[in-house]
Amino acid sequence: MHKILCLLCVVYLLRVSANKTTFEKNGITFETDEDGDYNLLTHEILVLQPGSIADIQDVYRLYLMEQKITGIEPGTFQNLPSLKKLIIIMNKVQKITTGIFNALTNLTLLNLSSNLISHIDSSAFDNLTSLESLTLSNNRLTSVDSQWFELTPSLNWISIRDNQLTELPAHVFGNIKSPKPFTLVLDDNKIAKIDKDAFRGLTSISMLSLDSNKLKTATGDFLEGLDIDVLLLRDNGIKCIDQEYFGAVFVANKTDISENPWTPQCLTAIQTWAEQFNKTVEHEFA
Ligand SMILES: *[C@@H]1O[C@H](CO)[C@@H](O)[C@H](O)[C@H]1NC(C)=O
Ligand SMILES: *[C@@H]1O[C@H](CO)[C@@H](O)[C@H](O)[C@H]1NC(C)=O
Ligand SMILES: *[C@@H]1O[C@H](CO)[C@@H](O)[C@H](O)[C@H]1NC(C)=O
Ligand SMILES: *[C@@H]1O[C@H](CO)[C@@H](O)[C@H](O)[C@H]1NC(C)=O
Ligand SMILES: *[C@@H]1O[C@H](CO)[C@@H](O)[C@H](O)[C@H]1NC(C)=O
Ligand SMILES: *[C@@H]1O[C@H](CO)[C@@H](O)[C@H](O)[C@H]1NC(C)=O
Repeated sequence: MHKILCLLCVVYLLRVSANKTTFEKNGITFETDEDGDYNLLTHEILVLQPGSIADIQDVYRLYLMEQKITGIEPGTFQNLPSLKKLIIIMNKVQKITTGIFNALTNLTLLNLSSNLISHIDSSAFDNLTSLESLTLSNNRLTSVDSQWFELTPSLNWISIRDNQLTELPAHVFGNIKSPKPFTLVLDDNKIAKIDKDAFRGLTSISMLSLDSNKLKTATGDFLEGLDIDVLLLRDNGIKCIDQEYFGAVFVANKTDISENPWTPQCLTAIQTWAEQFNKTVEHEFA
């Protein structure tokens, strides 16, 4: 019964979104719909040239997905006044230079996930004054440049998950000036070291996710002064935390410490402490 219903809903969705048309500009073909979604269809482009995606009044969301794009030249995107969401994913882009995105001052979302990006210029995101969400996940970044976030005052969501970060140095996220609570996703890296001033400058954090990294212990020094809702420390290499640091590490409203090689005594001590101080520390056995 459920299967039949689902089949009907798939058919319905296909019908509802059936008004797609193709659109060609500068030799590049897109599939478009009435919502301003543009989806790149041309497959032979390797490097996007200056002005190649330009003068399209109604493009709201632009998808360049699962293509063979290896590079994007500065000035590729010009005069796209309605563009709010730019999704360049599952390509082979290796570096992001200044001048590609800087003029897109209305952009709220930029997704560069699943490329081969190993370098991003310091000024690459300058003047993206409306940008709220930046996804750099599944790339080859080995470090984060604090200047990326210097002129992006609306950012409140960053994911750099699944890269090759090994440490978070002092002030690396210190340029973030978002008035809103922040979400920072740093899962699936190799972060073994976090400087005590790494997040200095931020105040309110909705979620700080450090799952699947290489942290071996914590003193909580990098959390000092932060108001955190959810802190995720799952799947690291933490065996124990000294009791004197419990109050500094478990500062978030909720902390999840599952899938670490905790010693039984340490886990018991944490649970006893958490009950005593009314803190939510979750631990689930994998
Ligand atoms: C598709 O286009 C037709 C005719 O222009 C219109 O009546 C219909 O509402 C459109 N469908 C959707 C889902 O926008
Ligand atoms: C930003 O959006 C406004 C309209 O909402 C438009 O007039 C303006 O040209 C856009 N700016 C850019 C740089 O596209
Ligand atoms: C950002 O804006 C400033 C002021 O308008 C300008 O001087 C600068 O060149 C811009 N930066 C980039 C990278 O476009
Ligand atoms: C970015 O794209 C990836 C696919 O590569 C997707 O999983 C993710 O949800 C997207 N994120 C945002 C914020 O659009
Ligand atoms: C932590 O929880 C309290 C009480 O529910 C809430 O007022 C506060 O905003 C939460 N902190 C964050 C950073 O969300
Ligand atoms: C513990 O925290 C919960 C919710 O955060 C609250 O309802 C409860 O009153 C607290 N208990 C004590 C003993 O502080």
